[in-house]
Formats: sequence, C-alpha cells, structure tokens
Amino acid sequence: MTTPSLNADTIRSQFPVFDHALPNGEPLAFLDSAASAQKPRVVIDAERTVLETHYANAYRGVYQFGAQIDDELEASREAVRQFINAADRSEIAFTSGTTMSLNLIAFGWAVRHLQEGDEILLNRMEHHANLVPWQQAAAKTGAVIRYIPLTENGQLDLSQLDELITTKSKLLAVTGMSNVLGTINPINELSKRIRDVGGVIVVDAAQSVPHQVVDVVADKIDFLAFSGHKIYGPTGIGIVYGRQELLAETDPLLFGGHMIDRVYDDHSTWTEPPAKFEAGTIPIVQAIALKSAIDFVNEVGLHALHEHESALTQYAHECLNDIPGMNIYGPPPGEKGAIISFTLEGAHPEDLAHLLDRKGVFVRHGHHCTMPLHDFLKVPATVRVSFGAYNTTSDIDQLIGAIHFARERLRLT
Ligand code: ALA
Repeated sequence: MTTPSLNADTIRSQFPVFDHALPNGEPLAFLDSAASAQKPRVVIDAERTVLETHYANAYRGVYQFGAQIDDELEASREAVRQFINAADRSEIAFTSGTTMSLNLIAFGWAVRHLQEGDEILLNRMEHHANLVPWQQAAAKTGAVIRYIPLTENGQLDLSQLDELITTKSKLLAVTGMSNVLGTINPINELSKRIRDVGGVIVVDAAQSVPHQVVDVVADKIDFLAFSGHKIYGPTGIGIVYGRQELLAETDPLLFGGHMIDRVYDDHSTWTEPPAKFEAGTIPIVQAIALKSAIDFVNEVGLHALHEHESALTQYAHECLNDIPGMNIYGPPPGEKGAIISFTLEGAHPEDLAHLLDRKGVFVRHGHHCTMPLHDFLKVPATVRVSFGAYNTTSDIDQLIGAIHFARERLRLT
C-alpha cells in the first residue's frame, strides 16, 4: 500500500482508549467507527473543562459562567458553519443527533409542504433514520414514496433519474455515504436534478462528514443532518442545517422554553431559527465539545484522512478477498468510503462477531438499521468493519488473523 500522509500512530496516541490492552490481553482493533467513533483527549478534556470550571445553563444567565457558556456554544455553531460552509450561523441548529434532525425536517418541513400525490424519492441503501420519517410524512400527507433503484454493486442507478424525477418530485432524501456499503452518492448531481424540478434535497451526512468535505453551498444542499458522536465528538448532540428560507418555513418539533418569542394565555409565537428548534436545555457540554471534535478533524485534515482511510480500505479488501468463502458487498475500493460489509460462508454474522471479539476485534453485525438494503442484498445480516483516523494496517492484520481463528473454531477450514 502507499504511504499515507497522515501519521495514524500519532493520531492513535491522542485517543486514551488505546492506551491499554483489553482485559484478555489482546490489543484493541476498533473497527466500528461507523456506529460511533472513539474520542480524542481534546474532546474529553473539553467536556471536563466546562464541567469543572464554568458550567451553567445556556442562553439564560448574564452572570460570568452563563455568558461564557453562550459564547462557547456560538463558537461551536460557528465551527460547524465553517465546517460545512453554510452561509449563515442561523442555518445551524443543535439537535440530539441525525435521527432527530431528519425527523425535524420530515415533520417540521415536509408534512407542512407535501400534498397528496407529491413524490418523495428514496433509495434502498438508506439507514432507517432516513426512511422511516419519510414513510411517516408520506402517510400523513398522502405523498408517494418512489425508490431510485440500486445497481448490482450497490450504487444509485442514475440511468433511471429521467423517469423518476418529475415535477411531482418534491423531496429527495439520500445518504452522503452508505453505512453498510460505503457507497458515496453523487450529491451534486442529485441536488441539481431535484432542484431543476423545484424539489428539495435532504442529505443524511452522518457517515460522510467524518470522511469527506461537505460543502452545502457548492453541492446545493437544502437540508443536511449529522451527529457529533460519529465525528469523534460527544453523543447526544447533532446538527440540522437548512437553508435560511427553508428553516423560516419549518415548524419546530419541540415546544417549550427558549424557542418562543411571546407566550400568551392561549397561544404563543416562535422566535427565529436556530433558537426556534432548540427548545428546553440543549446538551450544553456536548455541544461545546463538538467544536473540539471539529477542530481535531480540521487539524488532521479531511483530505489526509480520506487518503489514509482509502489506503486502509484498499488493503483490507485485498486481505479479505484472500479468505475462502468471503463475500464483500458494495462498490470496489476506490469507489467508496471506509466501510466494508461482508458475509463468510458457513458463519453466522453474530457468531463471527463474537469470535472476532475474543481476538480484540470489534465489529458490528446484523442489518445495521438497513433492512430494505439487506433484502436487496438477499442476506438477513452482514458483518461490518469501518475505519477511523486511528486505525492502522495492524488493525486489519489483527482482523484477518481473527477471521482465520474464527474459521478454525467454526471448522470452516
Ligand atoms: N447508524 C449507525 C451505524 O451504522 C449506528 O452503525
């Protein structure tokens, strides 16, 4: 493999979780970053610093701690704005994560704007969080869901777009990167096509933001959602981005303190975005520490990260392909992100995941919240490995050794 321009060992040393071997003496090969990434010391320290030195509620107190918390939250919002190149900070609202962000778009915007017979375009590689809310929105409005077909290797079949995208198409929801196949979708092309007919594009960027540059202006993205925890940040905090005009016509999902303009005895009015979508006390500490995660990713550099992870993906494909009975799903390396899902003939994915765990290799197994995709693949479950900034070729060597161990235990040799 080529030498990556990123020093993964140095990066790995910034993650305390790798400081110790596992209780059974095995080193940790953490290959489940697509589910949730490990946290660098800067993120852990950021949370601790807030809690130990100046914690207070947000957007309420003028005393010193309150003012500092407000400043830090706005600095985090600004870091997110720059990270996705949004035009204005008011287009960035804190949510609890991707799922809540997508629900906000579905129930705050789509339910208000879709009518009977309108069409929502989806595809079968979507995570349930980018399918189920649209099914609900369709059920509430009478809109119809249409699926962009997938090619055999798990990419969108763009040859069908002329037939599928019509003036009835009001919304196209798509993932930036498949959480199972690693497929990277052509957001720019899709946004152009749906906007040409007056529709909006919603991008589930949960898997793509940790690995590749996202530019909502260049890619003409209308709404975008992602989570902090997959990008080396805290859990419980996520982002919804919406173009200013669209957020202005989006209803809140949660009602209560902070999101109001004026409350009367019998009704209330809402304040402007983003506060309109941030009712109650938001996850203050996590939202502030999200900035440290974004700073970390910026410091590593998304281009270097992409190069490093592509090299790992290529190497892993080569090693896995040498194993008898191995079936890898999705596009070839070079045409996808740092995710590999596979089945091993004769091994149930859950058994395999248990056996890999014994060798310190942590992977996810199951349908990965993508049942329609697994129906398409004609398997109920797969094993998934996914890479982050801290992974090295040693992790892959450990994975391959562990698969051989599992094959022996399962008498597949
Ligand atoms: N969506 C996360 C995953 O793919 C949880 O594992």
